[in-house]
Amino acid sequence: MPSIDVESLSVRERYHLLVSIVIPRPIAWVSSINKAGQTNLAPFSFFNAIAANPMSVCFAPVNDRNGKPKDTLLNIKETGQFVVNIVNEDNVDKMNATSEAYPYGVSEFEKTGLTAIASLKVKPPRVKESPIQMECELIQIVTLSEGPLGGNLVIGKALVFHADEKIWNNGDIRHQDLKAVGRMAGNWYTRTRDAFEIIRPK
Ligand SMILES: Cc1cc2nc3c(=O)[nH]c(=O)nc-3n(C[C@H](O)[C@H](O)[C@H](O)COP(=O)(O)O)c2cc1C
Repeated sequence: MPSIDVESLSVRERYHLLVSIVIPRPIAWVSSINKAGQTNLAPFSFFNAIAANPMSVCFAPVNDRNGKPKDTLLNIKETGQFVVNIVNEDNVDKMNATSEAYPYGVSEFEKTGLTAIASLKVKPPRVKESPIQMECELIQIVTLSEGPLGGNLVIGKALVFHADEKIWNNGDIRHQDLKAVGRMAGNWYTRTRDAFEIIRPK
């Protein structure tokens, strides 16, 4: 059984190992806006829920290989707001299209034909084609490194939820209806259809 000292790996090798091991990862489809009012939309699978009090989520935009920060991070630093839209089987191809690296200020909404709808409490719009949209305000950004592929953990507090009427089910959302997808390594994804139940001990 090989034991690998992380220091012996290049940053790219560490990234590849990490995304092959931590699977499946949920996907935050994050809409944001800059001070000039230009919108942005991009997927992030370094994403998870943190707590219910405050109701909070986190995701991590990593710098590119030259250390340049993602547009999403720049926007959130400017405005302190973002929306997490949930990715499912119906919108996964559109989500993928929004991961293209357009120049700063170019809106993925316009490039991909997705529908931006106004949020209630924050300035970034929501994605109409997503079944769940979470309006969030920034709690904190933890910068792990400013170098190439350096990590930035964005922690946000959920302010408002929007759910498609068809899946809401009085707040008891069924995974069979949500049809969320998860990210594996590289270009691989997984559906959430193969669920099983285990009863927890008392
Ligand atoms: C499914 C998926 C998940 C991704 N997850 C991340 C991630 O967790 N962190 C990250 O920095 N980039 C991630 N990316 C790449 C970004 O979406 C991509 O760099 C995008 O262009 C960033 O957009 P922005 O510069 O407009 O913020 C992911 C791409 C895809 C398709």
